[in-house]
Amino acid sequence: MKKLRLTFPLLIALAGAPAFGQTGAPAAPPTLMREHAEREAFIDDLMKRMTVDEKIGQLRLLSVPAGANPDKPRLIAEIRDGKVGAIFNTVTPKDIRVLQDAAMQSRLKIPLFFAYDVIHGQRTIFPIGLGLASTWNLDAIRKVGRISAIEASADGLDVTWSPMVDISRDPRWGRNSEGFGEDTYLTSRMGAELVKAYQGDDPTAPGSILAVVKHFAAYGAIEGGRDYNSVDMSLQRLYQDYLPPYKAALDAGAAGVMIALNALNGVPATADKWLLQDVLRKQWGFKGITISDHGAILEMIRHGVAADGRDAARLAITAGADMSMSDSIYGENLRPLLDEGRISVADIDRAARDVLRVKYDLGLFRDAYRHIGPPENDPPDVNAESRLHRADAREVARESLVLLKNEGKVLPLKKQGAIAVVGPLAKSQRDVMGNWSAAGRPEQAVSVYQGIADAVAGKASLLYAKGANVTDDPEIVKYLNLYEQDVEVDPRPPQQLIEEAVQAARQADVVVAVVGESQGMAHEASSRTDIVIPESQARLLKALKAAGKPLVVVLMNGRPLSLVWENENADAMLETWFAGTEGGNAIADVLFGDYNPSGKLPMTFPRSVGQIPLYYNHLNTGRPFDPEHPDKYTSRYFDAPNGPLFPFGYGLSYTTFSVSDVTLSAPTMPRGGKVQASVTVRNTGDRDGATVVQLYIQDPVASISRPVKELKHFQKIALKAGESRKVVFDIDENDLSFFNAQLRYGAEPGLFNVYVGLDSQDVKQASFTLR
Ligand code: NOJ
Repeated sequence: MKKLRLTFPLLIALAGAPAFGQTGAPAAPPTLMREHAEREAFIDDLMKRMTVDEKIGQLRLLSVPAGANPDKPRLIAEIRDGKVGAIFNTVTPKDIRVLQDAAMQSRLKIPLFFAYDVIHGQRTIFPIGLGLASTWNLDAIRKVGRISAIEASADGLDVTWSPMVDISRDPRWGRNSEGFGEDTYLTSRMGAELVKAYQGDDPTAPGSILAVVKHFAAYGAIEGGRDYNSVDMSLQRLYQDYLPPYKAALDAGAAGVMIALNALNGVPATADKWLLQDVLRKQWGFKGITISDHGAILEMIRHGVAADGRDAARLAITAGADMSMSDSIYGENLRPLLDEGRISVADIDRAARDVLRVKYDLGLFRDAYRHIGPPENDPPDVNAESRLHRADAREVARESLVLLKNEGKVLPLKKQGAIAVVGPLAKSQRDVMGNWSAAGRPEQAVSVYQGIADAVAGKASLLYAKGANVTDDPEIVKYLNLYEQDVEVDPRPPQQLIEEAVQAARQADVVVAVVGESQGMAHEASSRTDIVIPESQARLLKALKAAGKPLVVVLMNGRPLSLVWENENADAMLETWFAGTEGGNAIADVLFGDYNPSGKLPMTFPRSVGQIPLYYNHLNTGRPFDPEHPDKYTSRYFDAPNGPLFPFGYGLSYTTFSVSDVTLSAPTMPRGGKVQASVTVRNTGDRDGATVVQLYIQDPVASISRPVKELKHFQKIALKAGESRKVVFDIDENDLSFFNAQLRYGAEPGLFNVYVGLDSQDVKQASFTLR
């Protein structure tokens, strides 16, 4: 019931949203109205008692990493003086309590809230976003969200900077790893489920945290995939493809929005009144909190829209950026701006109210220690094994693995004979967790080598060689190790490392090569101009291939890679992303067939970097290339095929499935009605397995050019060997709707094509008409 308190603004929102208002707004229930009125009355009263400086204090969000705070007395004094609104990066109840104690000594005793980047787990680390998306399993996502919230709140945290729902069509961008890939529908579903799972039915309950969706807006479309770069795109594309996942997260009740670092169509998002007020507040009716990203306000000077820090603060507060992250820019400038008459008290009041509302919704005014608890409850060891959720992490991780190739059924491997496990990532406990691994500890993560060793203990013998460094480029090593130790370099000459691995391969029956990217290569500020496996490791793979033994490539990476050589030469390839604390065990489960892989790619894998952007839901051109009738003056590359190496939605299993033709319940759909599309899926192999049935729609003749197909529904189903099942999808008008040239949302009458398949390319087609 309490959850409704958060969603109430969204109910209002729907009513007043011309472009998005596809549903009428039900009247808010009376209890909700009362709770809402009580909250506003409480905040009115508090605001009357606050000085302007105390209000400004609420807008300051400071990063306080544990143990790295040289000036704690100053920080404590600032908190006591009411000059801090919230803290992030402090992650234990003990450390958090000290800061909350200081807030409780401030004049008005306004509690702090505590936030952290809990992106794919807190202590137990789950697969990275791309891995979670590869499960196509909303139950798995709910599990990740619940466990993350339980562990984070047990650490004293109130808020997570998640979900990250930036759509990206550019594998060069390192932050692909954090999101759910290229598709608007899949990302919207994943983000919304995470929000609901984090926040639970009652955000004031232990075990719930509030969600801040990020990065608003369109951060994933930065030019050239270079981090922090600019975005320029049509409004149709923005509304149709990039904005819906943020909206879905807010509709699911997300309490906050983190503003993107990029400029959108020339305006830095942090200063974008249109984005932060017209779209977010007016069209969507959002009443929650907005948080600027790290240093973003000051960066507006370099964006070229602010003359100095004061000007930047003015732009941000008047645009609607409530809290300033990790700087003193609001603290130093808002008061002088007010005194100079360049901003109004209303600007500050509006932002302060948003912050106070979050604290109210969290229940912090009733109990400032609701997550922190009393000192006697502090876990004696925050990293204790008993605090981890290993079984759940293993279950989700194995569902996140995508089998890309399995020639001659080399997989699953037998637990016998000699197996060579090679590659710079094979024994890494740090990399398997991936980036943004919150409070996860590498020493608690299971490496691929360890997972394999445990799986075959007493049955097969293992050989190991590192084989290569992650990269041989000293400049890249320096870059990756700039702020934390990311890659460890084996000082031996590359050829010696390779020879050692080849020796191991020669003595083995099969080679498992664990290669790809270090976690730091697929992170914030980790853009690449190429998306191949680094040369040092590519050379290792070539040498292993020459050794003549069956070659299984286990990939660890946080972006689609170009794998042309690997696909031609490896016997099997398993995409494992960064699979988390239980990654090694989950990978071993799949390699040895204790789990039949079912993951599907949430992003297209191009053949080469030159094809980027390459995404499945592109528009047709006036001269589409037809491989059956190749013609010169068509839209094509003359030096390479147009299509991807692996399409969106692709992934193999140890069994095989067939999909019947598509049956439609009717040839026409009346306005406001439905058509059902069904297929029968059969497990035609000899193993039980799961797959994802995907439904795509195309509007082939519309007022503007529409994509060749767009994902609209999916169902993950498990089938026993030989079993078949009818899978039914309800298609309604919303599935046919889009934003037209005037940004009006709706479905246009005429023919629609429905495609159903187990990936985005291999599909069966049927058609119906919307009247
Ligand atoms: C900057 C990142 O862009 C954002 O995603 C993150 O939440 C903040 N830093 C806080 O760590």
